[in-house]
Amino acid sequence: MKFFVDTADVDEIRELNEMGLLDGVTTNPSLIMKAGRDIMEVTKEICAIVDGPVSAEVTATDYDGMMSQAAVLAGIANNICIKLPLTMDGLKACKALTSDGHKTNVTLCFSANQALLAAKAGATFISPFIGRIDDMAVDGMELIAEIRKIYDNYGFTTEILAASIRSVNHVKDAALIGADVATVPPATLKALVKHPLTDKGLDAFLADWAKTGQEIG
Ligand code: G3P
Repeated sequence: MKFFVDTADVDEIRELNEMGLLDGVTTNPSLIMKAGRDIMEVTKEICAIVDGPVSAEVTATDYDGMMSQAAVLAGIANNICIKLPLTMDGLKACKALTSDGHKTNVTLCFSANQALLAAKAGATFISPFIGRIDDMAVDGMELIAEIRKIYDNYGFTTEILAASIRSVNHVKDAALIGADVATVPPATLKALVKHPLTDKGLDAFLADWAKTGQEIG
């Protein structure tokens, strides 16, 4: 499973990238707002840190506007992936951009039929929002399973990018189902390493080691 980090915080991205954990980055207008940075400037910085795809989202809602914003965003760096909303115009732009050789991420997916349309439009990634479905008291993970089944039935190569991830269990469950990618907030990505028995075991090893009076090297 690939790990993308879901943030526009350059310091967090740099730290996680140095740990060798990052296969890409996703941003959206809310994350750009949270970072308090200029979209062009911050996206350029992110693209220089990470080798993998960096999703940058259009904010136009009509096809022509999306296409002209996509041209601007694609000019930032070679690893830009154009993020488009799951609307009729977004799908049309997705088809045109992928036909033109651009990577695309179709976002705000909340149903299997929407994911089917995105695959038919040639999307590189589809982003089903697990957490926001959970918020409606419906199991968001079921959507990941449905999309996996449909894509496998027909050999669609669109990658399932599990998004709106809120917990470490979301990451595990998405991996068990076979999502290709999880885009995870920095704190959740770092929390994946934690286990109390690891800490307890390490403390015990270090205490016993101190009793030996030995040093390595
Ligand atoms: O990747 C999409 C993500 O940024 C949305 O997450 O927690 O706002 O639903 P959330």
